[in-house]
Amino acid sequence: MTLDEKLGQMTQICFSNITLDGTKTLDLNADLFREAILSHKVGSFLSGTGPKDKWVNFITEVQRIAIEESRLGIPLLIGIDHVHGANYVDEGTIFPHNLTLSCSFDTSVIRQGAEVVAKETAPLGLSWNFAPVLDVGKNPYWPRLYETFGEDPLVCGTLGSAFVDAYQNANTEPFGLAACAKHFIGYSDPKSGWDRTPAEIPDQILYEQFLPSFEMALKAGVKTVMVNSGEVNGEPVHGSKFYIDEILRQRMGFDGVILTDIKDISKMVDMHSAYGNYKDAVLASINAGIDMAMTCNHYDFAGVIKELIEEGRLSEARIDESVKRILQLKKDLNLFEHAYPAGTQSDQIGHETHYEIAKRSAAESIVLLKNDGILPLKKDQKVFLAGFAAHSRKMMNGPWTLEWLGAEEDRHRKDVPSLYEAFCQQLGMSNVTLGALPFNFNRQAIKDIEKSDVVVLTIGEEPYSEFKGNIGDLSLDAAQTEMIKQVQEMGKPLVLLLVAGRPRIIKPFMEQTGAVLFCGYPGHGGPEAITEILAGTANPSGKLSFTYPANVGYFSPYYHKYSEYHHSSSKPFVPQFEFGAGQGYSPFEYTDLQVSDTLIQDLDQVIHCAVNVKNLGSMDGKETVLWFIRDEIGTITRPVKQLKHFEKQMRVFLEDT
Ligand code: GLC
Repeated sequence: MTLDEKLGQMTQICFSNITLDGTKTLDLNADLFREAILSHKVGSFLSGTGPKDKWVNFITEVQRIAIEESRLGIPLLIGIDHVHGANYVDEGTIFPHNLTLSCSFDTSVIRQGAEVVAKETAPLGLSWNFAPVLDVGKNPYWPRLYETFGEDPLVCGTLGSAFVDAYQNANTEPFGLAACAKHFIGYSDPKSGWDRTPAEIPDQILYEQFLPSFEMALKAGVKTVMVNSGEVNGEPVHGSKFYIDEILRQRMGFDGVILTDIKDISKMVDMHSAYGNYKDAVLASINAGIDMAMTCNHYDFAGVIKELIEEGRLSEARIDESVKRILQLKKDLNLFEHAYPAGTQSDQIGHETHYEIAKRSAAESIVLLKNDGILPLKKDQKVFLAGFAAHSRKMMNGPWTLEWLGAEEDRHRKDVPSLYEAFCQQLGMSNVTLGALPFNFNRQAIKDIEKSDVVVLTIGEEPYSEFKGNIGDLSLDAAQTEMIKQVQEMGKPLVLLLVAGRPRIIKPFMEQTGAVLFCGYPGHGGPEAITEILAGTANPSGKLSFTYPANVGYFSPYYHKYSEYHHSSSKPFVPQFEFGAGQGYSPFEYTDLQVSDTLIQDLDQVIHCAVNVKNLGSMDGKETVLWFIRDEIGTITRPVKQLKHFEKQMRVFLEDT
């Protein structure tokens, strides 16, 4: 390989850079594409959106040009953010976002869903899925909280590893799919809560809270890692030998491909001002250990590296290390034999059985947080339904659906119901009245509410992504606050459905609310799953994978919440709902706790525990059992409690214990 060919393999370009209209919509500008392939020898591309047939034709054409017209004929490695389903394919199945999914605490349903994603992604020639997010979601302001598996490192690592295993080992023969552990490291707890702003993370917290989920993903065999765009302790991670080389490569032993996040080497100059010019930033990132640069819309990366080699500041041997990893990855993914999409296999995209798995995923994940008895709804009760997600597929599917911020309503699949349609199907159209959008507390609304038995409001957040979701206040906006207050003045039983990417403050409304369910962004199966839970044909079993704050100014993950000491001396702002909160329609009784020991004396000691879980209700149900330990004394402050194991008892029958 020539040096140019090697450096082309280390460059990743956005498809929007070589399409006719400069967007993701898969209309190839063949001249621009040939320039990328023949002049710049680019070996990898990312991101597009459209119907599956368009994907098949587009990927077939770009691979054909790359393989048949370039000197070496190396196939392209194509990346996509299928973070909650085949979410950039019009016919794809949309799953709940990770924060919702993690509330299922059900590794099996999560693995099943991830296998569907693999089967709807790999046959299109999309061989690299930029998922799962393994960041620990411990800051409720952070606009990417919904992409995480919540605040607990063990939950993030366990569920993230299930994704890795399913993506990389699902039966998508002959196509391979690489997962991508992102975003390494310390991205999810910016001090300001705003995306890509500085994080201050002491080493102890790094090792105890941020690294474990990545360590578990590496153990699961994740083939690639994407770097955190932010900075930790004043150091942009993209240029950090400590975080990337010393920790990820040396300490954790990762020898797979390390990819930058989008345009992040340039951002070390433009955003972090860590380097005076692009060349110095490139040198720092190569010395740190990155292999491929997601430059997205320019080709300067290769030229700058050639200069660094000519100046003796960089060796070609270092370049060979990265190129070897990249070619090895292409080989592992079977790309040299099977680079072209298979039109036939893509027939399963959007299959009915995939919808059923998405619906089950949602049903297992939705959390019933409060129920004063108004749920389940009684047969033929009249329901008034309103709110921004009441009749919107866009809101239920959330961000990263056909477009980065979520596509407009008309692009979403119509063969899956909106919440209103699911209500009509399940409760009877004559029993459901849909409120106006935007909500208007006019004479009609008052009349409709008066004749209803129960009011159901969807509240929360319209979809957003990354920095677009930065906020300074977790309170609900004025319009939704007004809507809830106006409805509450009518005195009807009220159900709040929280459709959001993070916990918005609902304390002011709680007293006059009969039931609250956290739905997050529940995807295609969300409407039917929610309706079945409200109607009582499904027994909710979700539990919060994060702490739900009661006040805008106070939040803390469960493992560092106020301790008894603070409890006695001040009015702590106890959370609205604790980590692990969630109820069903069947109360469970825990009895006969058995532990082989109550003291852990040394590191490899194993403690065996058992408990009986009895269903005291009148419905079959499922119960997640959470096991915590506590290190009572530590010269470095120890967590108040720490999740060490969780399991979901799949079917706790009435007579079973
Ligand atoms: C984005 C995100 C990252 C995503 C990448 C490619 O900026 O940070 O999660 O995989 O760009 O779309």
